[in-house]
Amino acid sequence: CQQETASVAISNDSKLTISKHIYGQFAEHLGHGVYGGFWVDKTLPVKKEGRIRLDVVDALKKIKIPNLRWPGGCFADEYHWRDGIGPSALRPRMVNTNWGGTTEDNSFGTHEFLELCKLLNTEPYVAGNVGSGTVDEMSKWIEYLNSNSSSSVAQLRKTNGHPEPYKVTFWGVGNESWGCGGNMTPEYYADLFKRYASFAKDYPGARLKKIASGPNSDDYNWTEVCMKNIPNWMMWGISLHYYTVPTGNWGHKGSATKFDEKEYFTTMVNCLKMEELVNKHSAIMDKYDPEKKVALVVDEWGVWTDAEPGTNPGFLYQQNSMRDALIAGTTLNIFNNHCDRVKMAALAQTVNVLQSLILTDKDKMLLTPTYHIFDLYKVHQDAKFLPIKLNTPEYKVDGKEIPAVNASASQDVAGRIHISFVNLDPNNSISVSTSFKNIKWTTATGQALTSANLTDINTFQKPNNIHITGFNGIKKDGDKLTVDLPSKSVVVIELQ
Ligand code: AHR
Repeated sequence: CQQETASVAISNDSKLTISKHIYGQFAEHLGHGVYGGFWVDKTLPVKKEGRIRLDVVDALKKIKIPNLRWPGGCFADEYHWRDGIGPSALRPRMVNTNWGGTTEDNSFGTHEFLELCKLLNTEPYVAGNVGSGTVDEMSKWIEYLNSNSSSSVAQLRKTNGHPEPYKVTFWGVGNESWGCGGNMTPEYYADLFKRYASFAKDYPGARLKKIASGPNSDDYNWTEVCMKNIPNWMMWGISLHYYTVPTGNWGHKGSATKFDEKEYFTTMVNCLKMEELVNKHSAIMDKYDPEKKVALVVDEWGVWTDAEPGTNPGFLYQQNSMRDALIAGTTLNIFNNHCDRVKMAALAQTVNVLQSLILTDKDKMLLTPTYHIFDLYKVHQDAKFLPIKLNTPEYKVDGKEIPAVNASASQDVAGRIHISFVNLDPNNSISVSTSFKNIKWTTATGQALTSANLTDINTFQKPNNIHITGFNGIKKDGDKLTVDLPSKSVVVIELQ
């Protein structure tokens, strides 16, 4: 174990804001994400509002989740909203064909989702059904949600117990239309987008922010065709989906808890690919939208491992390690540094599915290392972006190398500066000399997340194994700052 050095120069030469919506979440009808995660049996001995579990809600409120995407995912393109309204006992049942073939009883529908958003104090982001739903169905769902008129659809919402319009604004026009959402070509999808979007109407106080179903990973042609064929004024954003698969092989993705340094290295190479994807998709968007009016919405991201042994593989339940915290910290730094174009994102998926913030087991719940990253980084939400210049040593394995340190910085409305550092090197601490241009401060404090091993996790027996601690590796040297980052750590510094 050695100490290496890096340097960071931070300036306030930017007028950009890091949108809070970068810190968004995703909850699909998948495994125990909604059912068993947010929405539980009446008899479960936990604090509840109706069937919504409040321990989960309280934990998410603490990290200020800004939006929640629902009902999918692949599920969105087989979801028919009328099945999920009205008296619960009368709601039809369906089979969730994408995720484990389970019976969906539709007890969690539109009103329940919006009640959850209200409890979470978060903005709903609804993904509409393009794959198997009609233009009229999507159009009427929006009317049901947002209209205050005397139309039958608006009246139905009132009869179902919500007199006021919900004023939902974030609206996804399909999901993964290149795959589970209909296996379309980009040309066909772009035409469909225009058709569905034309009948997705604005209602008073609820101007829709329509989000096109965007590319899979590095499918640059999809972005090109959509940006060329859909006028900018018609779409608020275009989505991007990219998952970090540890081995890079979807057939054998790699374990969530058992991996060696070689696999960790490959995982981080795959995680850092997000930088390239954002750069290249943004460059295409710049051609058609030089004023950056259309947002890149990374509304599915995170690590996707093999399912936890003994669980239903269709439920995508995986543990969450210190490695995954480094993935979250790194990815959020990438988004912060690209806040000119990335204005919204959603981690897949909030509870019990893929890279979760929270895991539950009946009445027990735990906060994952990834949760703690969102807790540490919440200070960046809606803060002024501060550009950084970074010189970092490389972290090398088998002759290949990646940057060991990544970082991003912002200034909040109270004038406090926050810098989030990630040291990906699992073997060496790194001393970062930090300088400032046109930024004044007097005191520095910090918080950190680290652990002895990359494979360390929180369990229901030891839920606080990995937790945020105070950080004392800061030295002030004139108007410079030296931050000693422990190996495999995330550190957030606050300057006042
Ligand atoms: O998040 C799990 C699945 O991954 C989503 O349903 C789908 O959109 C993506 O392929």
